[in-house]
Order: sequence, then C-alpha cells, then structure tokens
Amino acid sequence: MKISVIGCGYLGAVHAASMAELGHDVIGIDVDEVRIDTLARGKAPFHEPGFDDILQKNATRLTFTTDMSVVKEAKVHFVAVGTPQASDGSADMTYVNSAIEGLLPFISEGHLVVGKSTVPVGTAERLSEQVTSTGAVLMWNPEFLREGFAVQDTLSPDRLVYGIPEGDSGEWARATLDALYEQILATGTPRLLMNFATAELVKVSANAFLATKISFINAMAEIAEVTGANVTQLADAIGHDARIGRRFLNAGVGFGGGCLPKDIRGFVARAEELGVGQSLSFLRDVDAINLRRRGRVLEMLVEELGDLTGKTIAVWGMAFKPDSDDIRDSPALDITESLARAGAKVVAADPAALLPAQRRLAQSGLSDSISLTDDHLVAARNADALVIATEWKQFSTADPVVVAGLLATALVIDGRNCLDSDAWKKAGFRYRGMGRS
Ligand SMILES: NC(=O)c1ccc[n+]([C@@H]2O[C@H](COP(=O)([O-])OP(=O)(O)OC[C@H]3O[C@@H](n4cnc5c(N)ncnc54)[C@H](O)[C@@H]3O)[C@@H](O)[C@H]2O)c1
Repeated sequence: MKISVIGCGYLGAVHAASMAELGHDVIGIDVDEVRIDTLARGKAPFHEPGFDDILQKNATRLTFTTDMSVVKEAKVHFVAVGTPQASDGSADMTYVNSAIEGLLPFISEGHLVVGKSTVPVGTAERLSEQVTSTGAVLMWNPEFLREGFAVQDTLSPDRLVYGIPEGDSGEWARATLDALYEQILATGTPRLLMNFATAELVKVSANAFLATKISFINAMAEIAEVTGANVTQLADAIGHDARIGRRFLNAGVGFGGGCLPKDIRGFVARAEELGVGQSLSFLRDVDAINLRRRGRVLEMLVEELGDLTGKTIAVWGMAFKPDSDDIRDSPALDITESLARAGAKVVAADPAALLPAQRRLAQSGLSDSISLTDDHLVAARNADALVIATEWKQFSTADPVVVAGLLATALVIDGRNCLDSDAWKKAGFRYRGMGRS
C-alpha cells in the first residue's frame, strides 16, 4: 500500500520506516528541511536504537520530502505532528490543524486520514467534519511507543487502538487499517475498536496513569527519606501484588520527555474546559511531586557540601531517559541548570544527547558554568560530587572503585536509584539515593 506520514519526529519517522519494513511504500513529509534532508540520506536525525537499520534497509520504499502535494500519490495518510504544551498548559493544536489543512486539497473519496498525534478529547470529531467534506474518512489510532524501544513498540505493539466513525465509513476505515497492519495483527496483537472520544482518552489516560504511578512511588520516597525506610524494598514488596505490579515503580528524579509532563497538563486543561476539572485535580499533585523530586538533588548536595559556589559537580545524563537523545523536559537538564544557578561548575556527560543539550544550554545563558562531554569518566575527574540523572547502562554498571579514584570527594547522589548501593559504599562512597540511603 502507498501511504504518507505527515510529521517525521520521534513518532512519525519511526512509524514511516516501520511501515516500510512491513512492505509499504511510504512518503514522509515534514516542514523541517534539515530533518527531511537527513532522513532522505538514510540517516536518523535522533538517537533511537534500531532506527538507522530499518531506515537503511527499506530505503527503496521510503521517500522524504517537504512537498505536501506528493501525498496525492498515497491513499492512507498518518498525521504524526507534534502537540507540544501551550503557554496555558493546554495542548498546542497549531501543528495538527495546519497538517490537516495542508492535506485537504490532496485528499478525496477513497483516502483514509489516520491521526496518531496525542490530542485533547474532541479533536477527532472536530477534524472529521473537515476531512469528510473532501469525501475522505478520518480515524484516530493513538500511538503508545516508548522512546528507546520505538521500533520494537511500533512493529510489536501491546495493542492497537482504532477510534472510528459510526457506520459504513468506520467499517471501511477499520478494514483499510487492518490490511495495512496485517502482519502485526497476524501475531495476535489485540485490536480494539471504539469511538473517537474513547480512543483519544485511552492515550491521555494511559499516560496519566503511568505518571501517577511514578509520582506515587516518589511520594513514598519522600516519606521514606524522613523515616529511614527504603523505597526500593517497599516497591519490590508492593510490586509482588499483581494488582499493583512492579513496573513504573522506580523512585528517582521523576518523569520527563516530550509526552508525560505535557500530556497530563493538557489533560487537566481539557477537563477544565469540559467543566470536569475536579476529576483530574489529582494530576496537579502528580505534576508537583514530580517537579519537587528534581529539586531534591540540589537540596541533598547542599546538605552534604554546604554552599555550592565554586564546587564542581559531575552529572551523568542529559537525556530524559536512557537510549534516547530526547532532552524535552528532561529532569537531568533541569537539575544541571539548577546546580549552575546555585553557583556550581557542572560537568555533564551523556553518550547521545550532547548536541541537543548544547543547543538548549546556549539559550539558557548558563553555558559558561556547564561543560559537556560524551565520556562519563572524564566528567567525574576532580569533581566534588557525582549525580546520576539518567540511568544509562554504562553509568549503572560503572566500576565504583575506578570512579572513586577520579572524584575529589567520593560522594554520589543516585537520582535514579540505579546503582548497587552496597558496592558503591564499599568503594568508599558516601551514597545518597532517592528514598533510600
Ligand atoms: N515521542 C514519543 O515517544 C511519542 C509517543 C506517543 C505519542 N507521541 C505523540 O506523537 C506526536 C508527535 O510527537 P514527536 O515526539 O514525534 O514530536 P516531534 O516534535 O519529535 O515531531 C513532530 C514533527 O512534526 C513536524 N511538523 C510540525 N508541523 C508540521 C506540518 N504542518 N506538516 C508536516 N510536519 C510538521 C515537526 O517539524 C516535527 O518534525 C505528539 O502528539 C506526541 O505527543 C509521541
């Protein structure tokens, strides 16, 4: 099948290459010329394991362009543009609206538009009017991929959610997307049919639940810190209850990235618009707990070292999670900037996110106090303390004896609770975890 993917960011570019991997001919469209040029040369514009491979392997089935008119060659059009946070906390729909408007002149009967972006409930109903005026059909197929596992999650998702219109057009949309995802469905992947509003809500409520789970355990970490309890042991113990489960119960400096923070804020804003803000008021606490945990690292360093002016702090991690170079709303970057503002000299290390971090720091006006390297051991040299801000594997498996020999003071703040605390203490470290010591 010939398809188009509008918006070639973390979601869209991986979706385009994954659809080509399934044997489809794919046109990827984006307004960002540099991104399109990079993709057209078979290079990944961001760090995502396995993405380069499927991009190069399927090059003959992939075209990338900034020219929207090319979409008329395709019959199915995925909309994967960004929905960032607007200044009032709601989801900024500018890009989705302009992508749909850009598509309208080139679609007609027999075309299917598939929304993949995360949108406020009610969006698909509104856009459907515009799309059906051309004779085409709109459906919503939210995406649940995790950065770091994006290729795997796109090709082997936990489930496929189809938000479809009522009647014959909904049935046709289902059959068309089923044909496109035939190989995925053949493996037994559950496919769930529902109306637009439910499909939109499935996505934001899934993210709200995950964010709540993380903030719940981080709230327990706060209690553990004043009682001498160990939050990791607590998570292990409650996680054995199948109703609770152990995943997403790791206390630390909290969630970040281009999805969870803005999605819970957008969800709250939409609920307020709908007059049911009270239903989601708890998400404000979820957000507040999350942001508070970032600040805890600075507090711990001040407790240990006093005034941070002139102190050198090594920070391991810039990306919001390992195996990604995404620094959007990254706790690691926030922590780095707060340390620099407190007068510290920060040497930050990340194996993948140096370039985006450099660009962001250049805008922050703090670049004089922060230097960056891709070598975490170089960052540790002569530092007064080490902060683990992203749980890259090379950080969690670093030899504490070697690291102790590099630092000026053997002090570690394990912001991700990813180190073997006993081994680090044995190597002479003063160890501070998040909700465990
Ligand atoms: N990144 C994830 O892990 C993930 C997972 C699930 C859902 N989502 C959702 O997917 C959507 C995209 O997220 P992302 O992380 O890929 O964002 P992104 O910022 O990486 O990519 C968005 C892309 O859309 C392009 N774009 C904007 N307006 C356009 C237009 N009119 N025509 C063509 N291209 C246009 C931008 O240039 C950019 O390359 C968001 O709604 C997000 O919430 C993201």
